[in-house]
Amino acid sequence: MSPALRSVVVGVGAYLPEEVVSNDDLAKVVDTSDAWIFERTGIRQRHRAAPEQATSDLAVAAAHRALATAGRSPADIDLIIVATTTSDLTFPATAAIVQRKLGVGVCPCFDVQAVCSGFVYALSVADGFVARGLARCALVIGAEIMTRLMDWTDRGTCVLFGDGAGAVVLEPQAGAGGPDDRGILGVSLSCDGEKQDLLYVDGGPTTTGTIGHLRMQGREVFRHAVVNISDAVLKAAEAAQIGVQDIDWFIPHQANQRILDGVARRLGLPPEKVICTVSQHANTSAASIPLALAAGVEDGRIRQGDLLMLEAMGGGLTWGAVALRF
Ligand code: ACO
Repeated sequence: MSPALRSVVVGVGAYLPEEVVSNDDLAKVVDTSDAWIFERTGIRQRHRAAPEQATSDLAVAAAHRALATAGRSPADIDLIIVATTTSDLTFPATAAIVQRKLGVGVCPCFDVQAVCSGFVYALSVADGFVARGLARCALVIGAEIMTRLMDWTDRGTCVLFGDGAGAVVLEPQAGAGGPDDRGILGVSLSCDGEKQDLLYVDGGPTTTGTIGHLRMQGREVFRHAVVNISDAVLKAAEAAQIGVQDIDWFIPHQANQRILDGVARRLGLPPEKVICTVSQHANTSAASIPLALAAGVEDGRIRQGDLLMLEAMGGGLTWGAVALRF
């Protein structure tokens, strides 16, 4: 064990748009029902951004809350990374727009695009800056307006997604280099581009010239999710020198309650250690992990010193996990 600079989460914040769309509301748009959606996914409702809201607006609202809980101001920030699949514009990066709207001074700002795994990818990139002393106060945000990517005639996908944003503030703290340190302790990231056809958007600036719609082979995605996520969790735990039984709180990407249950079963995790928000938020892609983290912190379940495991899988296919002591 040798001393290490650790990236410690010192603030957490979330934002959900005002409009709540229930399963019954969707049953008026496509041939579906609350019973079908809830039984297959655990989803009861999702939030939807107002037409005038862009992803950066959700990100900025979450960032303000994260900064407030950290006792920091925009002037303290020296790195912004936004994980998003639904950027405001093709460029500049949504992170640059967030920087302007927050009034942060000149600093590195960029987006990370790893779809539902975006937040774990972004955390690990930010850790690269913070743990090398290249950033002293980093803002890492997951923000999405997934409802703008939906084909509202496709009942197999449009019922699954929602909008929202979550943010954390990361700062360096000296640690002993072992698993008792606060901060990011272990990471595992993967992608298998051969499986891109299972989950993708059928548009883009250099192909169709359109935004496109989300397409998914749900059953196949489901099949890969439990195996890949479990594998990522074990690898991140190994990197962190912890056992799965040491984890206090498991904070999964919120895609589907059945995936969450399947991973917990496979890893032998008690269900009461899993933070679940999918019933209220649906799948908010890169935003879902920081939204779930914020929910667990706000209601007092997650406390300083707790060992957390964040994990996700998404389009790419990408998947990954981050072990951190809060
Ligand atoms: N309401 C009613 N019926 C529906 C709906 C709906 N919203 N959607 C599909 N159906 C119908 C289908 O048309 C099909 O009817 P048919 O038998 O007459 O053809 C029937 O239900 C079964 O369809 P399947 O797609 O096989 O249903 P399945 O049981 O696999 O459930 C689901 C679909 C919920 C998408 C499931 O496959 C799943 O959860 N997959 C995981 C995908 C996921 O969560 N992706 C998120 C992104 S990836 C990630 O974040 C991990």
